[in-house]
Amino acid sequence: MTARAHRTAVTRSASPPRPVPALFPDRGEREAWDNLLTRQLIAADERVTDGAVMPTLDLAVFRRELAEFDFSGQLPLADLLGWVIAQLEQGVVHITHPRYFGLFNPAPTFPAQCADRIAAAFNPQLATSTTSPAAVEIEAHTIRAVARRAGLPPETAGHFTSGGAEANYTALICALTRGNPEFGAKGARAFEGPPVFYVSRESHLAWFKIAHQAGIGRGAVRLVATDGIGRMDPGALRAALAADRGEGSIPVMIAATAGTTNAGMIDPLAGCAEIARAAGVWFHIDAAWGGALIASDTQRAELAGIEAADSLTIDAHKWFATTMGCGMFFTKDAAALSSAFQVSTGYMPSNVAGVDPYVTSVQWSRRFLGLRLFLSLAAAGWEGYGRHVERAIELAALLRERLVARGWTIANHSALAVLCIEPPEGADDARAIVGRVLASGRVWISAANFEGRQVIRACLTHGETTQDHLMELVDALETARSG
Ligand SMILES: Cc1ncc(COP(=O)(O)O)c(C=O)c1O
Repeated sequence: MTARAHRTAVTRSASPPRPVPALFPDRGEREAWDNLLTRQLIAADERVTDGAVMPTLDLAVFRRELAEFDFSGQLPLADLLGWVIAQLEQGVVHITHPRYFGLFNPAPTFPAQCADRIAAAFNPQLATSTTSPAAVEIEAHTIRAVARRAGLPPETAGHFTSGGAEANYTALICALTRGNPEFGAKGARAFEGPPVFYVSRESHLAWFKIAHQAGIGRGAVRLVATDGIGRMDPGALRAALAADRGEGSIPVMIAATAGTTNAGMIDPLAGCAEIARAAGVWFHIDAAWGGALIASDTQRAELAGIEAADSLTIDAHKWFATTMGCGMFFTKDAAALSSAFQVSTGYMPSNVAGVDPYVTSVQWSRRFLGLRLFLSLAAAGWEGYGRHVERAIELAALLRERLVARGWTIANHSALAVLCIEPPEGADDARAIVGRVLASGRVWISAANFEGRQVIRACLTHGETTQDHLMELVDALETARSG
């Protein structure tokens, strides 16, 4: 049938076709499915907590089953929900497991999970305030509260992002836009020499992808040497700036890290801010995971200097433990942000900077991400989040004590809840030990490099990890120390 004939047939049907019930069941059925799903997820969570942290799936069998979904017919939703839950139970590393000592992917807070359900039900479009005024206001209010808590001034602008990489990308675009007013029109060609920016060699290496996306090339990333304990070396930073200037490159940004990915080290923020000011370049702080320290009255001083940032990244989906895909970007220079992302179209209901998120951010259509942090913060308060952060730091101290007593060494001295562990004399190397621990399925840890040394990395940011779980980690390491 041609497209035209098909259109004719559709318009000629006697009464409008009913919605497809498999996609849009009626209310009574939805409630039944919702209840079933809730029960199944609670049961799965219990089994996950009692079981292995590592995937136990036979991938070949799984792929054969998956291939049978040719979508040629309709299948009962109850069977489908059960099948998917069973596959995820066996087929992922369980970051929700209290014996997951992993890459600060969180076990999400319950309010954040509620937020996801609410957002899915209303599915508001957050591109403009006109379409979702309540949702846009909730996000803006939460961003203002976090900015205030971080010590940024009232004029700070910001928004929720998909994560730290998007927020860091936003920072670079702002830096380039302020660095040269012609950047928006001409791109990197606007500069008299190649634009370059500075991060430490312990920084998160999404910076290379960010430079690539921004059109200044991966060669624009300057990996500044560290000081032997994982922090950017200010002397090396000054030398790199001078060398680049001497060669005709154009420094546009210094990005300090507050909480390096591997070792949780905090670059000298005030010192880097001073160097950036003297050099006349944008100063960004990537506090994707360390930023959660702002919640704790006793620990927030570790981030002294954060208030000097032109822009700041904090991930809600790391130590703030929202569900995945939730970062935040803040900047004092609202004008640079607006000039970097402004656009005006007739088909959008409005386009006002500071009001409509799509004209000050990378994304256009936007999910209601900020509700996850709003609900969690409102339920726990800063005080509750402070305790969440402090208990993790206490657990890290306890783990350090237990391991050192058994002859292990801790290579990093982080203010955050992460340890870079070196095996005792005569034990196997870090990678071999990690391999054996993971094979046991008892706990999840990772292998990493810190200041050129191979280490075992254990992160303690899971909100439900207890001392017993910690002792199981110690035992798993002791058992795996020799082959
Ligand atoms: C310090 C730091 N910055 C940025 C990122 C990237 O954040 P995301 O994975 O949320 O995009 C990470 C991720 O681990 C990180 O540790």
